[in-house]
Amino acid sequence: MKIAVLGTGDVGANIAAKLVTLGHEVKMGSRTPEKANAWVKTQSKSASGGTFADAAAFGEVIFNCTLGSASVEALKEAGAENLGGKVLIDVSNPLDFSKGMPPSLTVSNTDSLGEQIQRAFPSVKVVKALNMVGHDLHVNPGLLKGEHDLFICGDDDAAKAKTTEILTRWFGWKSVIDLGGISASRGMEMYLPLWVTIAMRNNFTPFNIKVVK
Ligand SMILES: NC(=O)c1ccc[n+]([C@@H]2O[C@H](COP(=O)([O-])OP(=O)(O)OC[C@H]3O[C@@H](n4cnc5c(N)ncnc54)[C@H](OP(=O)(O)O)[C@@H]3O)[C@@H](O)[C@H]2O)c1
Repeated sequence: MKIAVLGTGDVGANIAAKLVTLGHEVKMGSRTPEKANAWVKTQSKSASGGTFADAAAFGEVIFNCTLGSASVEALKEAGAENLGGKVLIDVSNPLDFSKGMPPSLTVSNTDSLGEQIQRAFPSVKVVKALNMVGHDLHVNPGLLKGEHDLFICGDDDAAKAKTTEILTRWFGWKSVIDLGGISASRGMEMYLPLWVTIAMRNNFTPFNIKVVK
């Protein structure tokens, strides 16, 4: 499958590398193709790089792994015409580190970045996923021995089914909990200040949460 990964940070590089090892054609997008191409040099021939627009045009499914405070801008650079109608798995968090740790959020409570992205690109099938766990767990949930859950949300059921298939069959997640429409991004993103506090107090050792009924 042709997949676009928008973002050259730890999250994008990690997800993109896993997709390549699974045999997919992956194009990483960046503001400047040179940055994405630096990653490409470490990969096999099924990896390529380009601008955000190049990658979005290429991908049948798109991962948004860009800085949350710049994600809407990055997706505008990717181009509505290249994103339209596709599943966009949104891993970003609207973190604001300008006032120190733990971070605050650039949007919260009655709105969220997931919703901002969905509103900016109405024909895109946005699914929020993977934003509540550290990048080391994204494609390696088995790093934690116990049972733990991953949450997703989005307005399009078929897009959530596709995302769940990617998360479970490709990445190895055993429990994916659907929280409903994209407005559930509010809670998923507002968890982040708590996530960072837990991570800081545990020296950023990988961890996750489990819903016990
Ligand atoms: N780190 C984690 O463990 C983790 C876990 C879950 C979710 N997340 C979320 O995943 C996202 C990616 O995190 P990350 O740590 O891998 O990288 P990051 O440093 O948050 O983001 C890097 C990407 O954002 C792009 N970017 C930065 N400023 C931009 C701007 N002004 N306009 C357009 N694009 C811009 C960069 O473009 P260039 O390539 O051109 O530099 C780069 O591709 C974030 O939203 C983060 O909150 C992170």
